[in-house]
Amino acid sequence: MKEFGQFNIVGDATPVLSALADFGTGAGGPLMSEHRFGGDWTEIKLAKLEKYLRAYRTIFSGNPRARHFRTWYVDAFAGTGSRTRTDTPRVSPSALFGSDVYEDVDTKRYRDGSAKIAVALPDPFDNYLFIDKSAGRIKELERAIETERPALHPRCAFEHGDANDVLKQWCRERDWTKERAVVFLDPYGMQVEWGMVATLGATKAVDLWYLFPLGVGVARLLTRDGNIDESWAKRLDTTFGTKDWRSRFYETTQQEGLFGQMETVERDASEENIQGFINERLRTCFAGVAKGRILRNSKSNPMYSLCFAAANEKGAPTAIRIAKDILSD
Ligand SMILES: C[S@@+](CC[C@H](N)C(=O)[O-])C[C@H]1O[C@@H](n2cnc3c(N)ncnc32)[C@H](O)[C@@H]1O
Repeated sequence: MKEFGQFNIVGDATPVLSALADFGTGAGGPLMSEHRFGGDWTEIKLAKLEKYLRAYRTIFSGNPRARHFRTWYVDAFAGTGSRTRTDTPRVSPSALFGSDVYEDVDTKRYRDGSAKIAVALPDPFDNYLFIDKSAGRIKELERAIETERPALHPRCAFEHGDANDVLKQWCRERDWTKERAVVFLDPYGMQVEWGMVATLGATKAVDLWYLFPLGVGVARLLTRDGNIDESWAKRLDTTFGTKDWRSRFYETTQQEGLFGQMETVERDASEENIQGFINERLRTCFAGVAKGRILRNSKSNPMYSLCFAAANEKGAPTAIRIAKDILSD
């Protein structure tokens, strides 16, 4: 059954343009800068990632057949390692996220982000790669790890750059007969290029967690009448790695009207359809894919789909079983 207009497309084009760029706030300056993002979905996302990282390390250090692999954790949209969270949200809703990101000067708290969670694991990875497009944020993260986890600092690489380019290069430099990795893609919007996702799948060695911008990005670009600006269409091509999204989300039919043939366009931009499509796309280059978990804002609107895919044929059944458990929990 088709669903129409399921997503609340808020305001004018500003949020859409933001989805194409960088939703972040905070300057990433030399001191502890404020990196504000997310809502409750952030807590869910990070708790699920941590559970998986713990399970992964347990397998790789406990299983004699897995123990000889060098394991990597890659955080390709790493941020500063900390985020500002507020417990009683009030005023100052961010212009970029509508009412989903708040600043409350009285109850501001710093919480660990994905990078700090990954270095705090009881059984850490052999190597870490942290990437961020913001020079300030990646520097801040490096300083924090150097200070708070000095023993782990030598295992960590910090790259300032575009995640798509850095990851493709990093994949080329690995010996995948001896190395395995968990890669976490945590963009604000539609910064992830399909070519990079396909490169991760081609390694046959990467477990991927991808915060897919279902509601904050894709749904907003799929206009009701199907007239999509060329730059938005290109961004959808880049996100899905195909132009097939058009026939997936729109159906054009010819109907006999009072004045002759008329063309009608029907859109199906339901969350199930978008999620189904990204799952199908992931299946084209990964051995196993778990159904993503939709992360919603306080008004129950879908923001992201937290997706998981495993590239290694042998490891995929176990990885998918664990990820499914975590995602459905
Ligand atoms: C949602 S935040 C990441 C939060 C982080 N995972 C955490 O839990 O603390 C997204 C980050 O991606 C960075 N970013 C945006 N575009 C990027 C790109 N093309 N490549 C790498 N980093 C990018 C931003 O600077 C920002 O720090």
